[in-house]
Amino acid sequence: MSGFNTSGVLSVAPARMLVPILLILMWYLGRLHSQYEPIVTSKVSSRLEEARKMIPSVKLDWPIPLAKDPRAAFNSSKLALLIEARPLPHLPPLILHMMAVIPPDWRFLFIGSNESIIGVSRAYSIKHQQVIGKLDLVELPPPWSIASKEDVFRLLTDSRFYDEFLTDVEWILKYEHDSILCANSETSVDDGLGWDWTGAARMGDGHFSGYGGLSLRRVSVIKRVLSFQARFNDSEPEDEWFGKRLWVLPGAKVASRFDDAIAVEDVYMERPMGYHIREGGGSLDKSVWGDAARRKEIFEYCPELSMIMDMKLERQRCPDDDGNGDREMADVQVTTAVLGEGDDAKALPNDAESAVLPPQPPPLPQPWKVSVTTFGSPLRTGID
Ligand SMILES: *[C@@H]1O[C@H](CO)[C@@H](O)[C@H](O)[C@H]1NC(C)=O
Ligand SMILES: *[C@@H]1O[C@H](CO)[C@@H](O)[C@H](O)[C@H]1NC(C)=O
Ligand SMILES: *[C@@H]1O[C@H](CO)[C@@H](O)[C@H](O)[C@H]1NC(C)=O
Repeated sequence: MSGFNTSGVLSVAPARMLVPILLILMWYLGRLHSQYEPIVTSKVSSRLEEARKMIPSVKLDWPIPLAKDPRAAFNSSKLALLIEARPLPHLPPLILHMMAVIPPDWRFLFIGSNESIIGVSRAYSIKHQQVIGKLDLVELPPPWSIASKEDVFRLLTDSRFYDEFLTDVEWILKYEHDSILCANSETSVDDGLGWDWTGAARMGDGHFSGYGGLSLRRVSVIKRVLSFQARFNDSEPEDEWFGKRLWVLPGAKVASRFDDAIAVEDVYMERPMGYHIREGGGSLDKSVWGDAARRKEIFEYCPELSMIMDMKLERQRCPDDDGNGDREMADVQVTTAVLGEGDDAKALPNDAESAVLPPQPPPLPQPWKVSVTTFGSPLRTGID
């Protein structure tokens, strides 16, 4: 007790006093540093940071550089963006395929609903991409919504979205669940950076080849448009809306000829950078997809299309399918052949002729044929 009075303190040797003072000083400096740090990082963080799903706790078997923010390894001005609220099963492989095809310095952002984010983030390989800073999974905070197409159109035509969530981004490669880049393409996405906007051409529009299912956009040009134009709610889709304004925007370098397009939608182009199959093939355009030989060529060039398209096996075709899914003509002719047994066949010999000749169904698939022939009666096969 007596050590705390004035005489006691003075009696301690100066060297012994120095030690606690130094300790206190170190502790104070340490505290000061730890107080500064959160302030610094919170300044750096954006709205994107808030919405960003926490990096999962994944143990990687290979070392990653101990950089403070792994995202610094990528070019923050280039972003591949996918917005999808539905938990579609092919989203993880689609995202990973796009990562492999797009040059390695691009970053990826997936904006989803709680459900689609859970679906995507389950994959180990996706978690790895989050850990190395390549991919962010984001659920936008209210009032933002991506529940409907109209919500997404509003999002993409709102400059606050670009200011708050895409702060450093200059180029956006926007892709959707039904669009894909082809690994066999001789050109890279970086070759398109000279455009302010390019995408897919559409029949009947010779002015704008920037339809948006798979498109490359420049944020500075988007902001220029949004600085003096606002889209009416529940009006046209965002790509058409931008298209009309970009086409007349002075100095904007916008893809306008069919050849400028990077993606094929319903205007055929040989070996494009990628394809946008609207709704996964629900309404395919005949000029691109109507011909079996051309279709074969497309699938040989871009086999990964089978990831985003509804497909069935060749052997699931009807036996009288003409290879294009058409069998109506055959049906009609078979009907006339049956009806034509009476007077009509004699009245129109040519028709009757053609009714007899045409398509004999090709041999039925093997297993069925075998099981039918076991009846031992050729009449029961129903083939002839
Ligand atoms: C990011 O990419 C753009 C376009 O390729 C390039 O001009 C820029 O220098 C890159 N930034 C960094 C930090 O590498
Ligand atoms: C997702 O959010 C909605 C409402 O925002 C909620 O009703 C639903 O249960 C959530 N789903 C999951 C899987 O958390
Ligand atoms: C358009 O919709 C947004 C909500 O998405 C709303 O905030 C805004 O007021 C609407 N604009 C008009 C003109 O109704």
